[in-house]
Amino acid sequence: MAAYEYETHEYDVVVVGAGGAGLRATLGMAEQGLRTANVTKVFPTRSHTVAAQGGIAASLGNMGPDSWQWHMYDTLKGSDWLGDMDTMEYVAREAPKAVYELEHYGVPFSRNEDGKIYQRPFGGHTTEYGEGVSVERVCAAADRTGHAMLHTLYGQSLKQNAEFFVEYFAIDLIMSEDGQCQGVVAWKLDDGTIHVFNAKMTVLATGGYGRAFFNCTSAHTCTGDGGGMVARAGLALQDMEFVQFHPTGVFGPGMLITEGARGEGGYLTNSEGERFMERYAPTFKDLASRDVVSRCMTIEIREGRGVGPNKDHIHLNLSHLPAELLAERLPGISETAKIFAGVDVTKEPIPVLPTVHYNMGGIPTNYWGEVLNPTDADPDAVVPGLMAAGEAASASLHGANRLGANSLIDLVVLGRAASIRAGQVVDPAAPNPTLNTASIDQALDRFDGLRHAKGKIPTAELRLEMQRTMQNDAAVFRTDKTLAEGVEKMTAVAAKLGDLGVTDHSLIWNSDLMETLELTNLMPNALATINGAEARKESRGAHASEDHPERDDKEWRKHTIARVDGPKVTLSYRPVHTEPLTSHEDGGIDPRKIAPKKRVY
Ligand code: FUM
Repeated sequence: MAAYEYETHEYDVVVVGAGGAGLRATLGMAEQGLRTANVTKVFPTRSHTVAAQGGIAASLGNMGPDSWQWHMYDTLKGSDWLGDMDTMEYVAREAPKAVYELEHYGVPFSRNEDGKIYQRPFGGHTTEYGEGVSVERVCAAADRTGHAMLHTLYGQSLKQNAEFFVEYFAIDLIMSEDGQCQGVVAWKLDDGTIHVFNAKMTVLATGGYGRAFFNCTSAHTCTGDGGGMVARAGLALQDMEFVQFHPTGVFGPGMLITEGARGEGGYLTNSEGERFMERYAPTFKDLASRDVVSRCMTIEIREGRGVGPNKDHIHLNLSHLPAELLAERLPGISETAKIFAGVDVTKEPIPVLPTVHYNMGGIPTNYWGEVLNPTDADPDAVVPGLMAAGEAASASLHGANRLGANSLIDLVVLGRAASIRAGQVVDPAAPNPTLNTASIDQALDRFDGLRHAKGKIPTAELRLEMQRTMQNDAAVFRTDKTLAEGVEKMTAVAAKLGDLGVTDHSLIWNSDLMETLELTNLMPNALATINGAEARKESRGAHASEDHPERDDKEWRKHTIARVDGPKVTLSYRPVHTEPLTSHEDGGIDPRKIAPKKRVY
């Protein structure tokens, strides 16, 4: 057994991760007087939410008519009828309140001419249950909305005396013999010490796992750490096959160019200078849902109408827009285009390509953030002491495809919901759990094993193999053949984790070891993704199968549940929640509006 001394900290709640969801949960917990620790591997304002550009969706109606029912309908249609209706109703209803709350906390939203919060159009957000025109629903702080939110939420959390443990890497969950979460074991990166956080409630807000792919808009820190910890605890991951490709990553480096660029009037063209989206989505054109636009761009390239010497990307045109508008509403992406594509957006188009951007799947939760451990007897069984929120979680607001700007609203509404629920179930006067030391020892043994791993394969080499496999075989378009090959290749890649070699055995600022721990987190996420995709014999949202091009509600309107044990993945399924929270008679959405139908834009 590995001999590490550790310091034990006792809190009511420990939140892992300090992005939008982690900070909103932390703030909500601390506001209620719960003793709250936030454990984060990066400084809070460096969390990946900082990169969120275009905005946060809420039916404020500041620019024209809107309603929470329209927002819920768009979210459901965007999800390709896989989202859970209780979650969707909760988020669409609570969204305006959550945005005003952010405003009052200090988020410097852009303003319209009346001085109200400015809202812009975004893909898939419409009026009249999809029958009307695009709606201006997305509240923005220029194109740096996530940045503004993160700084505000961090400041507010400090004001409420939440305690931050910055640059602490969470190694594993501490689980009791009877399946209750008791906290986490963490490694302090700057001095090498080990810390045990004993908590009555643990919240995983660790973000997505974009870095399982070669080309993504995600920060290098997006390594699915929560999903990895959950998988190792024998718990489930949900709907992992649904991986969102954002239509406009900068061709090559992959940096995000916000959908807000198309919301402000930008448009895509092919090598013939044609605005091709008009052919595919005659009503909403460039503002169709992301999965649709990404597929259309891929088809254009495949059919030989891509731009550039190799006809392998697409142009995003902004130069027809007034320079003042670009400077006021899109300053961030104007700079990004200059730095990463060498393009002056006032004069030239930006070269773009669909790029991995978001994971719809994650740790299954209800809309209160409680982690689920589905069984046949109870598909909604709750894991005591464990919550998840944000991109790490699957609540399932987004189902098979997320609408742009529904991520930031997910973070704040469901981060806040987790804190409300914690306020109900955590008793500050009760003693902390008696820790299961066997679980702590197991985490430290794993840590020590990786620290001294003597195999032949460097971490970076195996990571690249995983990333290339996922990029090729879990792509925008998938076939039975590529997916079956992908499962085989990923199983072999994952089996090589046992042959990793770590050369730096120190405990202080050891990036070799940290990246190895991250790779062990990415791997179960990647395995669940490719296995879930291979099993799903239909097309739905971001999962586009060329062999099964239609959505099959009879067989496949169900959530995939994946349990990952080493390279082995066991799949089962869980029903979608098809009932909204409120009946039509009591003011809820009209059931005729939300019945499944073909998804056209
Ligand atoms: O395009 C964007 O600004 C991204 C927004 C989102 O993913 O929600």
